[in-house]
Amino acid sequence: MKETTPRPDRVFLLGVLLPGTEPERLDEQMRELAELTRTAGGEVVATDVQRRADIDPALFVGAGKVAEIAERHGELEYDLVICNEDLSPRQLRNLDRRLKVRVMDRTDLILDIFARHARTREGRLQVEVASLRHWLPRLVGAYDYNRQVGGVGVRGGPGEQQIEIERRRVRVRMRDLERELEQVRGQRERQRESRRVSELATVAVVGYTNAGKSTLLNTLTGAGVLAENQLFATLDPTTRRWRLPGGREVLLSDTVGFIQKLPTELVAAFRATLEEVTEADLILQVVDGTAAALDDQAETVDQVLAELGAADRPRIIAVNKADALGPAALRRVLQRLRARYPLVLPISALRNRGLERLGEAVVKATESELVAMELLVPWGRERILAELRREGVVDETTFTPEGTYLRGRAPKGALHRFRQYAAG
Ligand code: GTP
Repeated sequence: MKETTPRPDRVFLLGVLLPGTEPERLDEQMRELAELTRTAGGEVVATDVQRRADIDPALFVGAGKVAEIAERHGELEYDLVICNEDLSPRQLRNLDRRLKVRVMDRTDLILDIFARHARTREGRLQVEVASLRHWLPRLVGAYDYNRQVGGVGVRGGPGEQQIEIERRRVRVRMRDLERELEQVRGQRERQRESRRVSELATVAVVGYTNAGKSTLLNTLTGAGVLAENQLFATLDPTTRRWRLPGGREVLLSDTVGFIQKLPTELVAAFRATLEEVTEADLILQVVDGTAAALDDQAETVDQVLAELGAADRPRIIAVNKADALGPAALRRVLQRLRARYPLVLPISALRNRGLERLGEAVVKATESELVAMELLVPWGRERILAELRREGVVDETTFTPEGTYLRGRAPKGALHRFRQYAAG
Protein backbone atom coordinates (compact mmCIF):
# COMPACT_ATOMS: atom_id res chain seq x y z
CA MET A 1 0.00 0.00 0.00
CA LYS A 2 1.21 3.43 -0.85
CA GLU A 3 1.78 5.75 2.08
CA THR A 4 -0.18 8.96 1.92
CA THR A 5 0.87 10.76 5.11
CA PRO A 6 4.56 11.46 5.72
CA ARG A 7 5.80 9.58 8.76
CA PRO A 8 8.67 10.81 10.95
CA ASP A 9 12.13 9.41 10.25
CA ARG A 10 12.79 6.29 12.32
CA VAL A 11 16.10 6.80 14.07
CA PHE A 12 18.71 4.45 15.52
CA LEU A 13 20.94 6.12 18.15
CA LEU A 14 24.47 4.89 18.67
CA GLY A 15 26.97 5.74 21.40
CA VAL A 16 30.36 4.60 22.66
CA LEU A 17 31.31 4.21 26.31
CA LEU A 18 35.01 4.98 26.67
CA PRO A 19 37.19 4.34 29.72
CA GLY A 20 37.05 7.35 32.03
CA THR A 21 33.43 8.21 31.18
CA GLU A 22 30.87 7.29 33.82
CA PRO A 23 28.01 5.17 32.44
CA GLU A 24 25.46 7.59 33.99
CA ARG A 25 26.99 10.49 32.10
CA LEU A 26 26.73 8.63 28.80
CA ASP A 27 23.13 7.64 29.67
CA GLU A 28 22.31 11.30 30.16
CA GLN A 29 23.95 12.20 26.85
CA MET A 30 21.98 9.48 25.07
CA ARG A 31 18.76 10.76 26.66
CA GLU A 32 19.61 14.23 25.46
CA LEU A 33 20.40 12.89 21.97
CA ALA A 34 16.95 11.25 21.94
CA GLU A 35 15.37 14.56 23.00
CA LEU A 36 17.27 16.38 20.25
CA THR A 37 16.11 13.77 17.73
CA ARG A 38 12.47 14.33 18.71
CA THR A 39 12.99 18.09 18.47
CA ALA A 40 14.24 17.57 14.90
CA GLY A 41 11.04 15.62 14.11
CA GLY A 42 12.46 12.08 14.31
CA GLU A 43 11.22 9.02 16.18
CA VAL A 44 13.78 7.01 18.16
CA VAL A 45 13.29 3.28 17.47
CA ALA A 46 16.46 1.98 19.17
CA THR A 47 19.41 3.14 21.27
CA ASP A 48 22.59 1.12 21.46
CA VAL A 49 25.84 1.74 23.30
CA GLN A 50 29.10 -0.10 22.84
CA ARG A 51 31.77 -0.23 25.54
CA ARG A 52 35.18 0.20 23.88
CA ALA A 53 38.78 1.09 24.73
CA ASP A 54 38.72 3.77 22.01
CA ILE A 55 36.69 5.02 19.05
CA ASP A 56 37.27 2.91 15.94
CA PRO A 57 38.97 5.23 13.40
CA ALA A 58 37.30 3.53 10.43
CA LEU A 59 33.84 2.68 11.72
CA PHE A 60 33.25 4.57 15.03
CA VAL A 61 32.17 1.24 16.64
CA GLY A 62 33.42 -2.31 15.97
CA ALA A 63 32.76 -4.10 12.67
CA GLY A 64 30.68 -6.70 14.55
CA LYS A 65 28.43 -4.01 16.01
CA VAL A 66 27.97 -2.41 12.59
CA ALA A 67 26.97 -5.80 11.13
CA GLU A 68 24.54 -6.32 14.01
CA ILE A 69 22.91 -2.93 13.41
CA ALA A 70 22.64 -3.66 9.68
CA GLU A 71 20.98 -6.98 10.49
CA ARG A 72 18.37 -5.31 12.70
CA HIS A 73 17.21 -3.15 9.81
CA GLY A 74 14.60 -5.71 8.79
CA GLU A 75 13.02 -5.63 12.24
CA LEU A 76 13.38 -1.90 13.07
CA GLU A 77 13.11 -0.30 9.62
CA TYR A 78 15.20 2.69 10.68
CA ASP A 79 15.85 5.44 8.12
CA LEU A 80 18.70 7.12 9.89
CA VAL A 81 21.56 6.34 12.31
CA ILE A 82 22.77 9.14 14.59
CA CYS A 83 26.07 8.82 16.45
CA ASN A 84 26.67 10.58 19.76
CA GLU A 85 30.18 11.76 18.76
CA ASP A 86 31.40 13.71 15.77
CA LEU A 87 32.31 11.45 12.85
CA SER A 88 35.33 11.83 10.59
CA PRO A 89 34.69 11.84 6.81
CA ARG A 90 36.14 8.32 6.72
CA GLN A 91 33.86 6.96 9.44
CA LEU A 92 30.86 8.60 7.82
CA ARG A 93 31.69 7.16 4.41
CA ASN A 94 32.27 3.63 5.77
CA LEU A 95 29.13 3.62 7.89
CA ASP A 96 27.06 4.94 4.98
CA ARG A 97 28.34 2.14 2.82
CA ARG A 98 27.78 -0.67 5.30
CA LEU A 99 24.47 0.45 6.76
CA LYS A 100 22.98 1.73 3.50
CA VAL A 101 20.97 4.40 5.32
CA ARG A 102 21.71 8.03 6.12
CA VAL A 103 24.24 8.51 8.94
CA MET A 104 24.55 11.73 10.97
CA ASP A 105 26.54 12.84 13.99
CA ARG A 106 25.50 14.91 16.98
CA THR A 107 26.68 18.16 15.41
CA ASP A 108 24.69 17.50 12.20
CA LEU A 109 21.61 17.00 14.33
CA ILE A 110 22.12 20.15 16.39
CA LEU A 111 22.82 22.17 13.23
CA ASP A 112 19.62 20.83 11.72
CA ILE A 113 17.63 22.01 14.73
CA PHE A 114 19.42 25.35 14.82
CA ALA A 115 18.60 25.85 11.14
CA ARG A 116 14.88 25.21 11.76
CA HIS A 117 14.71 27.59 14.69
CA ALA A 118 16.89 30.54 13.74
CA ARG A 119 14.53 33.49 13.43
CA THR A 120 16.62 36.60 12.87
CA ARG A 121 18.97 37.24 9.99
CA GLU A 122 21.94 37.01 12.34
CA GLY A 123 20.80 33.64 13.69
CA ARG A 124 20.30 32.25 10.20
CA LEU A 125 23.68 33.50 9.02
CA GLN A 126 25.40 32.02 12.08
CA VAL A 127 23.83 28.64 11.45
CA GLU A 128 24.73 28.61 7.78
CA VAL A 129 28.37 29.49 8.45
CA ALA A 130 28.62 26.79 11.14
CA SER A 131 26.99 24.21 8.84
CA LEU A 132 29.33 24.95 5.98
CA ARG A 133 32.30 24.77 8.31
CA HIS A 134 31.16 21.37 9.53
CA TRP A 135 30.40 20.23 6.00
CA LEU A 136 33.53 21.30 4.14
CA PRO A 137 35.79 18.42 5.31
CA ARG A 138 33.02 16.01 4.27
CA LEU A 139 33.33 17.38 0.76
CA VAL A 140 37.02 16.52 0.82
CA GLY A 141 36.00 13.08 2.06
CA ALA A 142 33.64 12.68 -0.86
CA TYR A 143 36.49 13.64 -3.15
CA ASP A 144 38.71 10.87 -1.71
CA TYR A 145 35.85 8.47 -1.93
CA ASN A 146 35.25 9.15 -5.59
CA ARG A 147 38.90 8.74 -6.40
CA GLN A 148 38.99 5.36 -4.72
CA VAL A 149 35.77 4.22 -6.29
CA GLY A 150 36.98 5.44 -9.68
CA GLY A 151 40.11 3.35 -9.27
CA VAL A 152 38.22 0.08 -9.28
CA GLY A 153 36.15 1.04 -12.25
CA VAL A 154 32.90 1.89 -10.52
CA ARG A 155 31.04 4.95 -11.68
CA GLY A 156 28.82 7.38 -9.82
CA GLY A 157 29.04 10.55 -7.81
CA PRO A 158 30.44 13.85 -8.99
CA GLY A 159 33.84 13.93 -10.69
CA GLU A 160 37.06 15.29 -9.22
CA GLN A 161 36.84 18.57 -11.08
CA GLN A 162 33.27 19.13 -10.05
CA ILE A 163 34.13 18.54 -6.37
CA GLU A 164 36.89 21.11 -6.67
CA ILE A 165 34.43 23.62 -8.14
CA GLU A 166 31.96 22.81 -5.38
CA ARG A 167 34.59 23.35 -2.68
CA ARG A 168 35.52 26.69 -4.13
CA ARG A 169 31.86 27.66 -4.27
CA VAL A 170 31.42 26.76 -0.59
CA ARG A 171 34.47 28.84 0.40
CA VAL A 172 33.22 31.85 -1.53
CA ARG A 173 29.79 31.49 0.06
CA MET A 174 31.39 31.31 3.51
CA ARG A 175 33.34 34.48 2.88
CA ASP A 176 30.18 36.30 1.73
CA LEU A 177 28.29 35.09 4.79
CA GLU A 178 31.06 36.21 7.15
CA ARG A 179 30.98 39.64 5.56
CA GLU A 180 27.22 39.89 5.90
CA LEU A 181 27.45 38.74 9.51
CA GLU A 182 29.92 41.51 10.25
CA GLN A 183 27.36 44.04 8.97
CA VAL A 184 24.53 42.56 11.00
CA ARG A 185 26.71 42.53 14.11
CA GLY A 186 27.52 46.18 13.54
CA GLN A 187 23.78 46.94 13.44
CA ARG A 188 23.19 45.00 16.62
CA GLU A 189 26.03 46.80 18.35
CA ARG A 190 24.35 50.10 17.45
CA GLN A 191 21.04 48.81 18.82
CA ARG A 192 22.80 47.84 22.01
CA GLU A 193 24.25 51.35 22.22
CA SER A 194 20.81 52.87 21.92
CA ARG A 195 19.54 50.51 24.59
CA ARG A 196 22.34 51.71 26.85
CA VAL A 197 21.10 55.25 26.22
CA SER A 198 17.64 54.18 27.43
CA GLU A 199 19.42 53.48 30.71
CA LEU A 200 17.18 50.73 31.99
CA ALA A 201 18.94 48.00 33.93
CA THR A 202 19.40 44.83 31.86
CA VAL A 203 18.71 41.28 32.97
CA ALA A 204 19.92 38.36 30.83
CA VAL A 205 17.88 35.18 31.13
CA VAL A 206 20.14 32.15 30.75
CA GLY A 207 19.69 28.48 31.36
CA TYR A 208 19.95 25.01 30.10
CA THR A 209 17.91 24.36 27.01
CA ASN A 210 14.22 23.52 27.73
CA ALA A 211 14.43 24.96 31.28
CA GLY A 212 11.50 27.28 30.54
CA LYS A 213 13.15 30.58 29.65
CA SER A 214 10.71 31.46 26.89
CA THR A 215 7.73 30.53 29.07
CA LEU A 216 9.06 32.77 31.84
CA LEU A 217 9.54 35.66 29.43
CA ASN A 218 6.00 35.19 28.15
CA THR A 219 4.47 35.13 31.59
CA LEU A 220 6.47 38.12 32.81
CA THR A 221 6.04 40.36 29.84
CA GLY A 222 3.22 38.90 27.73
CA ALA A 223 5.76 39.05 24.94
CA GLY A 224 4.48 36.16 22.83
CA VAL A 225 7.99 34.67 22.62
CA LEU A 226 7.88 31.22 21.10
CA ALA A 227 7.73 28.48 23.77
CA GLU A 228 7.80 24.90 22.67
CA ASN A 229 8.53 21.59 24.27
CA GLN A 230 11.54 21.30 22.08
CA LEU A 231 15.18 21.91 22.66
CA PHE A 232 16.59 25.11 21.23
CA ALA A 233 13.32 26.82 20.51
CA THR A 234 15.26 30.02 21.05
CA LEU A 235 18.21 30.94 18.92
CA ASP A 236 18.13 34.66 18.88
CA PRO A 237 18.12 37.08 21.73
CA THR A 238 14.79 38.76 22.17
CA THR A 239 14.57 41.70 24.48
CA ARG A 240 11.46 42.82 26.36
CA ARG A 241 10.57 45.25 29.10
CA TRP A 242 9.59 43.87 32.48
CA ARG A 243 7.79 46.06 34.97
CA LEU A 244 9.03 45.09 38.42
CA PRO A 245 7.00 45.31 41.64
CA GLY A 246 7.15 49.01 42.57
CA GLY A 247 6.94 50.10 38.94
CA ARG A 248 10.58 50.25 37.85
CA GLU A 249 11.27 48.61 34.49
CA VAL A 250 14.20 46.48 33.38
CA LEU A 251 15.10 44.99 30.02
CA LEU A 252 14.94 41.20 29.93
CA SER A 253 16.81 39.41 27.18
CA ASP A 254 16.41 35.77 26.28
CA THR A 255 19.47 33.80 25.17
CA VAL A 256 20.07 30.54 23.35
CA GLY A 257 19.77 27.46 25.59
CA PHE A 258 22.96 25.88 26.82
CA ILE A 259 23.70 22.23 26.29
CA GLN A 260 26.38 19.65 27.12
CA LYS A 261 28.89 18.86 24.41
CA LEU A 262 27.89 21.91 22.39
CA PRO A 263 30.07 21.60 19.29
CA THR A 264 32.97 24.06 19.39
CA GLU A 265 32.08 25.61 16.04
CA LEU A 266 28.67 26.43 17.49
CA VAL A 267 30.07 27.96 20.65
CA ALA A 268 32.16 30.19 18.40
CA ALA A 269 29.22 30.96 16.13
CA PHE A 270 26.96 31.99 18.99
CA ARG A 271 29.54 33.78 21.09
CA ALA A 272 28.38 37.11 19.70
CA THR A 273 24.79 36.37 20.69
CA LEU A 274 25.83 35.32 24.15
CA GLU A 275 27.86 38.47 24.64
CA GLU A 276 24.63 40.11 25.81
CA VAL A 277 25.16 38.11 28.97
CA THR A 278 28.51 39.68 29.81
CA GLU A 279 27.01 43.13 29.63
CA ALA A 280 23.90 42.48 31.70
CA ASP A 281 23.50 44.07 35.14
CA LEU A 282 22.05 40.80 36.40
CA ILE A 283 21.93 37.21 35.22
CA LEU A 284 18.68 35.36 35.81
CA GLN A 285 19.46 31.67 35.55
CA VAL A 286 16.45 29.44 34.95
CA VAL A 287 16.89 25.86 36.14
CA ASP A 288 14.53 22.99 35.32
CA GLY A 289 13.82 21.65 38.81
CA THR A 290 12.52 18.39 37.35
CA ALA A 291 15.67 17.58 35.33
CA ALA A 292 17.40 14.39 36.40
CA ALA A 293 20.80 15.81 35.55
CA LEU A 294 20.30 19.02 37.55
CA ASP A 295 23.91 19.25 38.78
CA ASP A 296 25.44 18.49 35.39
CA GLN A 297 23.24 21.12 33.82
CA ALA A 298 24.21 23.71 36.45
CA GLU A 299 27.84 22.80 35.80
CA THR A 300 27.41 23.34 32.04
CA VAL A 301 25.82 26.75 32.58
CA ASP A 302 28.60 27.74 35.02
CA GLN A 303 31.24 26.67 32.50
CA VAL A 304 29.72 28.61 29.62
CA LEU A 305 29.35 31.71 31.82
CA ALA A 306 32.98 31.36 32.92
CA GLU A 307 34.07 31.02 29.28
CA LEU A 308 32.19 34.21 28.46
CA GLY A 309 33.86 35.99 31.36
CA ALA A 310 30.51 36.47 33.12
CA ALA A 311 31.05 34.16 36.11
CA ASP A 312 31.18 37.03 38.60
CA ARG A 313 28.09 38.93 37.40
CA PRO A 314 25.31 39.13 40.03
CA ARG A 315 23.08 36.09 39.58
CA ILE A 316 19.65 34.87 40.71
CA ILE A 317 18.72 31.22 40.29
CA ALA A 318 15.03 30.56 39.53
CA VAL A 319 14.12 26.90 40.03
CA ASN A 320 11.35 26.45 37.48
CA LYS A 321 8.60 23.80 37.13
CA ALA A 322 8.16 23.78 40.92
CA ASP A 323 4.50 22.91 40.21
CA ALA A 324 5.62 19.53 38.85
CA LEU A 325 7.53 18.61 42.02
CA GLY A 326 6.21 17.31 45.36
CA PRO A 327 7.13 19.35 48.47
CA ALA A 328 9.89 16.94 49.56
CA ALA A 329 11.45 16.77 46.10
CA LEU A 330 11.33 20.55 45.79
CA ARG A 331 13.04 20.93 49.17
CA ARG A 332 15.83 18.59 48.10
CA VAL A 333 16.36 20.43 44.82
CA LEU A 334 16.45 23.81 46.57
CA GLN A 335 18.91 22.48 49.13
CA ARG A 336 21.26 21.17 46.45
CA LEU A 337 21.22 24.43 44.54
CA ARG A 338 21.56 26.58 47.64
CA ALA A 339 24.79 24.75 48.42
CA ARG A 340 26.05 26.07 45.11
CA TYR A 341 24.48 29.51 44.66
CA PRO A 342 23.68 32.32 47.12
CA LEU A 343 20.21 33.28 45.85
CA VAL A 344 17.84 30.47 44.81
CA LEU A 345 14.03 30.88 44.43
CA PRO A 346 11.36 28.36 43.37
CA ILE A 347 8.99 29.45 40.58
CA SER A 348 6.52 28.10 38.08
CA ALA A 349 6.68 30.10 34.89
CA LEU A 350 3.75 28.16 33.47
CA ARG A 351 1.41 28.61 36.46
CA ASN A 352 2.65 32.10 37.31
CA ARG A 353 3.84 31.19 40.80
CA GLY A 354 6.71 32.70 42.77
CA LEU A 355 7.13 35.45 40.20
CA GLU A 356 6.25 38.29 42.58
CA ARG A 357 9.05 37.21 44.92
CA LEU A 358 11.37 36.76 41.98
CA GLY A 359 10.54 40.30 40.90
CA GLU A 360 11.32 41.62 44.38
CA ALA A 361 14.68 39.82 44.33
CA VAL A 362 15.45 41.40 40.95
CA VAL A 363 14.47 44.81 42.37
CA LYS A 364 16.97 44.35 45.20
CA ALA A 365 19.74 42.91 43.06
CA THR A 366 19.58 45.68 40.47
CA GLU A 367 19.13 48.42 43.06
CA SER A 368 22.71 48.21 44.25
CA GLU A 369 23.68 49.74 40.90
CA LEU A 370 21.54 52.81 41.57
CA VAL A 371 22.86 56.09 42.92
CA ALA A 372 20.97 58.04 45.61
CA MET A 373 19.96 61.66 44.96
CA GLU A 374 17.67 64.43 46.18
CA LEU A 375 15.72 66.51 43.69
CA LEU A 376 13.41 69.47 43.62
CA VAL A 377 11.22 69.12 40.55
CA PRO A 378 9.42 72.37 39.62
CA TRP A 379 5.68 72.24 38.96
CA GLY A 380 4.98 71.39 35.35
CA ARG A 381 8.00 69.11 35.06
CA GLU A 382 6.29 66.02 36.45
CA ARG A 383 7.45 64.02 33.46
CA ILE A 384 10.81 63.68 35.16
CA LEU A 385 9.08 62.03 38.13
CA ALA A 386 7.52 59.41 35.88
CA GLU A 387 10.89 58.82 34.24
CA LEU A 388 12.57 58.25 37.58
CA ARG A 389 9.81 55.84 38.63
CA ARG A 390 10.38 53.84 35.47
CA GLU A 391 14.17 53.73 35.52
CA GLY A 392 14.99 54.03 39.19
CA VAL A 393 13.33 54.30 42.55
CA VAL A 394 11.40 57.11 44.24
CA ASP A 395 11.79 56.68 48.00
CA GLU A 396 10.02 59.77 49.32
CA THR A 397 8.11 62.74 47.92
CA THR A 398 7.04 65.96 49.60
CA PHE A 399 5.02 68.66 47.90
CA THR A 400 6.35 72.18 48.47
CA PRO A 401 5.34 75.56 47.00
CA GLU A 402 8.36 75.38 44.65
CA GLY A 403 7.59 71.90 43.37
CA THR A 404 8.00 68.28 44.37
CA TYR A 405 10.89 67.50 46.64
CA LEU A 406 12.00 63.90 46.37
CA ARG A 407 14.56 61.45 47.56
CA GLY A 408 15.29 58.66 45.10
CA ARG A 409 17.84 56.60 43.25
CA ALA A 410 18.73 56.42 39.54
CA PRO A 411 20.97 54.32 37.31
CA LYS A 412 24.44 55.86 37.01
CA GLY A 413 24.07 56.42 33.29
CA ALA A 414 20.87 58.43 33.79
CA LEU A 415 22.14 60.80 36.49
CA HIS A 416 22.93 63.55 34.00
CA ARG A 417 19.23 63.89 33.13
CA PHE A 418 18.20 64.40 36.73
CA ARG A 419 21.15 66.46 37.90
CA GLN A 420 19.69 69.78 36.77
CA TYR A 421 16.95 69.35 39.42
CA ALA A 422 19.38 68.52 42.25
CA ALA A 423 18.05 69.95 45.52
CA GLY A 424 20.11 72.05 47.91
P1 GTP B 1 15.01 26.72 24.66
O1 GTP B 1 14.38 27.70 23.74
O2 GTP B 1 15.21 25.38 24.06
O3 GTP B 1 16.24 27.25 25.29
O4 GTP B 1 13.94 26.38 25.82
P2 GTP B 1 13.34 27.31 26.95
O5 GTP B 1 14.25 27.31 28.11
O6 GTP B 1 12.95 28.63 26.40
O7 GTP B 1 12.04 26.46 27.38
P3 GTP B 1 10.48 26.71 27.06
O8 GTP B 1 10.01 27.96 27.68
O9 GTP B 1 10.27 26.53 25.59
O10 GTP B 1 9.81 25.51 27.90
C1 GTP B 1 10.13 24.16 27.70
C2 GTP B 1 8.99 23.25 28.16
O11 GTP B 1 8.84 23.31 29.59
C3 GTP B 1 7.63 23.62 27.58
O12 GTP B 1 6.92 22.42 27.31
C4 GTP B 1 6.94 24.36 28.72
O13 GTP B 1 5.55 24.26 28.67
C5 GTP B 1 7.49 23.62 29.93
N1 GTP B 1 7.46 24.50 31.13
C6 GTP B 1 7.95 25.76 31.22
N2 GTP B 1 7.72 26.28 32.45
C7 GTP B 1 7.07 25.31 33.16
C8 GTP B 1 6.57 25.26 34.50
O14 GTP B 1 6.63 26.19 35.30
N3 GTP B 1 6.00 24.08 34.87
C9 GTP B 1 5.87 23.02 34.04
N4 GTP B 1 5.28 21.93 34.51
N5 GTP B 1 6.33 23.05 32.77
C10 GTP B 1 6.92 24.18 32.31
